Amino acid sequence: MTQTLISLDGTPASTFAFGAMQFGGKADVTQSRAMFDACRVSGVTHFDTAHVYTDGASETLLGDMIRSEREAILVASKVGYSGGAGAQNLRAQFDVSRQRLGQDMIDILYLHRFDPDVDLHESLGCLAEMKQAGQIRYIGLSNAAAWQVMKAVSVAAQFDLTIDILQPMYNLIKRQAEVEILPMCADQGIAVAPYSPLGGGMLTGKYAQGGTGRLSEDHRYAARYGLDWMPETARALSQLADEVGVPAATLAVAWVAASPYSPMPIISARTAEQLVPSLAALNFDMPGELYNRMSALSPTPAPATDRIEEQL
Ligand SMILES: NC(=O)c1ccc[n+]([C@@H]2O[C@H](COP(=O)([O-])OP(=O)(O)OC[C@H]3O[C@@H](n4cnc5c(N)ncnc54)[C@H](OP(=O)(O)O)[C@@H]3O)[C@@H](O)[C@H]2O)c1
Repeated sequence: MTQTLISLDGTPASTFAFGAMQFGGKADVTQSRAMFDACRVSGVTHFDTAHVYTDGASETLLGDMIRSEREAILVASKVGYSGGAGAQNLRAQFDVSRQRLGQDMIDILYLHRFDPDVDLHESLGCLAEMKQAGQIRYIGLSNAAAWQVMKAVSVAAQFDLTIDILQPMYNLIKRQAEVEILPMCADQGIAVAPYSPLGGGMLTGKYAQGGTGRLSEDHRYAARYGLDWMPETARALSQLADEVGVPAATLAVAWVAASPYSPMPIISARTAEQLVPSLAALNFDMPGELYNRMSALSPTPAPATDRIEEQL
């Protein structure tokens, strides 16, 4: 059974998380605060940040916001995106993150990405010490392949640790996680908090209307969403959204949440106004037929065996 992560006061993690990656960057202080408040009003308790976001401003701003109700909040950060997953680097980044957040303890600590050059015994041994010292409560991995996760599960067990949560990319355009990550997590009881439910904004439909944003401003996202069929999926989603009478962003987030594997999408925006349709997905009851129609708007990834004739 997939474990439920809880805040210090016993509150189960909300069905959506909010990502503070834009805090202090594209989202100024006022908009960051307005988004945090809107999330809290909607019952969101799980907030995600990382050591590398906005040169630390994301952690500093989020830390200020959670301080008054710390025990109700599940705060997650990530280390090891830069500098590798060696113990010294993980510890140094973690301590800076704790300072910025103003917290001795960070509920969820992710390894931000897999480091093929460092033995997992070293990375997980470091996290084991942090957990032993009460400095973290849950261990997560982000941007890892399934075999890397299973290797980590096995090494973690040697330290009497579990891998508690994964953070993969997952949305209607990026569906690779369906092949191995989501079924593996269900099998192993690992919670999943997928990032980029809107495809970095593409699934809002704004680019088809000449809009601008992350995909026109950040070459990494332009490349990630640059295949020919991808804008077509976004356009088709917008048409479907018009038919249903809800924003495309609401449908996109609700589609991630409606996965049979029950992941907790990490929503985000640069303004409180942008966030409204993503938050609205919390109350959107996705009919099975609509879910199937949406799924048909993008290629279903081949199964791990590549025997597509056996795909359900
Ligand atoms: N582990 C990792 O490697 C990793 C990677 C990425 C993200 N994350 C986490 O996941 C969180 C969410 O990821 P994400 O930001 O990629 O999520 P997303 O929901 O796919 O994209 C959010 C972006 O879409 C645009 N947008 C949102 N609502 C909109 C609206 N109503 N109209 C028009 N544009 C809209 C905004 O960007 P623009 O206005 O700039 O277009 C916004 O910043 C992050 O905050 C972070 O915590 C983790």
